[in-house]
Amino acid sequence: MIPSGGTRLSRQIREWVHTLLLVATFLFLVSGMGITEPNLMNAITLRLLTKETSYKIHSWLLYPFTALLVTHIYLKISRKNNRKEN
Ligand code: HEM
Ligand code: HEM
Repeated sequence: MIPSGGTRLSRQIREWVHTLLLVATFLFLVSGMGITEPNLMNAITLRLLTKETSYKIHSWLLYPFTALLVTHIYLKISRKNNRKEN
């Protein structure tokens, strides 16, 4: 019998997908601004984020982000099997 809220594993997967989605969104914002405002972001991140690094992160991030978003939406759609999930 599955307890309400799902199995421990499914809950952990959901929480990880949520967390990673938030991190990826944040990185998109920061790296996007690193492309448009390289001097500002360079100063804010103590020279860690150059325009070139920002561009690499921004380009590369699309793949994990898409995978996470698809997983996230899939877990919502499959919710009907497991009522109180998100
Ligand atoms: C960058 C995009 C997204 C991020 C960062 C994100 C993040 C989150 C997070 C953190 C939660 C958990 C809220 C909680 O813990 O109760 C959540 C819930 C949810 N998300 Fe997303 N999400 C994104 C996109 C989407 C999209 C595109 C859809 C729909 C197609 C969607 C549908 C939902 C639904 C239905 C819930 C459950 C709400 C509830 O029942 O309380 N999300 N999302
Ligand atoms: C979830 C949010 C975002 C997504 C999914 C996203 C996605 C993308 C993708 C796929 C590209 C093409 C990268 C490539 O050519 O390989 C791109 C380019 C770009 N993005 Fe974003 N982006 C987001 C947010 C932002 C933000 C917040 C900014 C600025 C503040 C930004 C600024 C740019 C710029 C300037 C380019 C063009 C880079 C160039 O080709 O010279 N993006 N973005």
